Amino acid sequence: MTQISDRQQLEDKVKDLREQLREHNFRYYIKDDPTVSDGAYDTLFHTLRKLEEEYPQLITSDSPTQRVGAQPIEGFTQVTHRLPMLSLGNVFNDEELNDFDRRVRDRLESEAIVEYTCEPKIDGLAVSLLYVDGLLTLASTRGDGSVGENITENVRTIGSIPLQLRGQGYPKELEVRGEVFMSKQGFSSLNKRALANSEKVFVNARNAAAGSLRQLDPRMTAKRPLDIFCYSVGYVDGELPNTQSEILAQLQEWGLKTNPEVKTAMGPKECTAYYLDILNRRDELGYEIDGVVYKVNSLTLQNKLGFVSRAPRWATSHKFPAQEETTRLLDVEFQVGRTGAITPVARLEPVLVGGVTVSNATLHNMDEVERMDVRVGDTVMVYRAGDVIPKVVKVILDKRAEGAKRIVMPSVCPVCESPIEKPEGEAVARCSGGLICKAQSKEAIKHFASRRAMDVDGLGDKLVEQLVDTGKISNVAGLFELSAEQLASMDRMGAKSAENLVVALEKSKMTTLPRFLFALGIREVGEATALNLANFYGDLAAIQVANEESLLEVPDVGPIVARYLKLFFAQPHNVEVVEQLQQSGVHWPAIDVVTNQDKPLEGQVFVLTGSLIKMTRNEAKAQLQQLGAKVSGSVSKKTHCVVAGDAAGSKLKKAQDLGVDVIDENELEKLLARYNA
Ligand code: IVH
Repeated sequence: MTQISDRQQLEDKVKDLREQLREHNFRYYIKDDPTVSDGAYDTLFHTLRKLEEEYPQLITSDSPTQRVGAQPIEGFTQVTHRLPMLSLGNVFNDEELNDFDRRVRDRLESEAIVEYTCEPKIDGLAVSLLYVDGLLTLASTRGDGSVGENITENVRTIGSIPLQLRGQGYPKELEVRGEVFMSKQGFSSLNKRALANSEKVFVNARNAAAGSLRQLDPRMTAKRPLDIFCYSVGYVDGELPNTQSEILAQLQEWGLKTNPEVKTAMGPKECTAYYLDILNRRDELGYEIDGVVYKVNSLTLQNKLGFVSRAPRWATSHKFPAQEETTRLLDVEFQVGRTGAITPVARLEPVLVGGVTVSNATLHNMDEVERMDVRVGDTVMVYRAGDVIPKVVKVILDKRAEGAKRIVMPSVCPVCESPIEKPEGEAVARCSGGLICKAQSKEAIKHFASRRAMDVDGLGDKLVEQLVDTGKISNVAGLFELSAEQLASMDRMGAKSAENLVVALEKSKMTTLPRFLFALGIREVGEATALNLANFYGDLAAIQVANEESLLEVPDVGPIVARYLKLFFAQPHNVEVVEQLQQSGVHWPAIDVVTNQDKPLEGQVFVLTGSLIKMTRNEAKAQLQQLGAKVSGSVSKKTHCVVAGDAAGSKLKKAQDLGVDVIDENELEKLLARYNA
């Protein structure tokens, strides 16, 4: 073979590897439907890297191996946008949306219903990506709309942005615009990591994305979980389709990531329906959005409509209620939880966040208070999403008033005055009062009666608090001694509701061992552990006397859980309460202990992902473990089966990637039924 053809062969091989990798990236990031395993991808990647190391003259800038630059850059240079990067007008309600649509039709001098695209408004950073002959040549921030910064080196590290467009027919020059963002999950794991390493914590996903794009060292950016949705084009030298929706579809074909939630709507009514649907699903989306965007679909009509100052007349955004607001921190109180954990709680000047008035928010623990350096009197940022407890995420230091007071953890419990203890290395401080602490006993009783524990109908939190405060009961055993008369004398209780509660208490006595164990509120003993313990030992007495060695044999029980179990049953007071409960008539059916022969799934590794409907993930986990399976949190080659519930995400993808068996909830149910779990 001649030298020339050798070289040709080599070049072809390198080109082929790059094309394969590009296509796999496309299937993974854009189509969300990978066809090879991570391992197979890595092999291709390493083969290419090896060849490039050996023949550096074959390296091209669009090679998938060349995403991350080796050196930090000196600073960001300025980029003048060829076409300005515009902003959008806002509408906040149906009336304003109708006005917008009215203006569009008036300008078009047409009464015909206008077709709009409806798109989520991603809460990230606008970027411009310039592709010349299909090659990513320049990436810049929006800046002031006319001049932005050159962030090409950083943008190249984002896996979902192609360095080279795929397919054919793309314009000679194509400027794509989109929003770079960090997924909620990526943001939360980044912050967890930062907290663990005492590094800077970001206030929200948007700031984290902004901070990541502004790194001078692209190797840092490469470690940040950034992503993109492309939503429009800027300067184009070539042909494109004539509607926004077709342009998005075309961008996708060229390997650019667009948002899967984009739809078209006829007129404002359908736009509103879209808005409500997305608002409804806001918390389920894996990324933060702050509203939706409507754009006139036809480019011909867009051109007729044109612009007014810096915003197009053919598009507007329909904003969601904000999830973050600032307000004043009036005071901090310390709340005592069921296990004595002391939580600093912020009392706030009431503020509307996402449509709900918030006057309390968690400050988590004193480490967080110190990290944020939050003080009473400060102006603080409060974040609230979905049903989660609002939290203080940041202090607006510029607005710190003179005399803002530092927050000090009390040395004794605010409820029972027992000393507060904080073991070395733990973030959480605890009241040492145990059950003499009224706060702890109230929480313990609420937990005992809760739906997933003893399921006492009609015993609300307020009633439990009154019962403890008035000295009617001091622990869970006291519940079953209460008479209808005693209950009827409580606030907001009548004879009828008191009687109903006595009946409900009576009914709750017939329970199951796992529920009872869970209801006791032993630290670290959740539902799944309780089920495992019950199945392993079969009865309570055996659990009470089990030694550590034996406890460690129970699936999912480690040294910490074993220690808390031993501690719990070592306290005479606890044993007494358990006895009292049984004497009051609390009972459960006997359990057949599962022996090793009954472990048909021994040695099998399962992973649960997504949400199950008929059972909780913890229940499914415990039942699988009962049959001998190991339930793991992550998918690997060693996984035998993935159970994919609703909205399963990356784990499902990985399973498909690795060719691991995937079953749904119905199939899981059948499997469990087959073995009578
Ligand atoms: S279109 C001329 N579409 O919102 C149209 N923008 O307030 C300009 N944004 O700077 C933008 N998601 O950063 C458009 N689907 C979407 C968007 C979107 C987020 C951001 C973008 C823009 C800002 C305008």
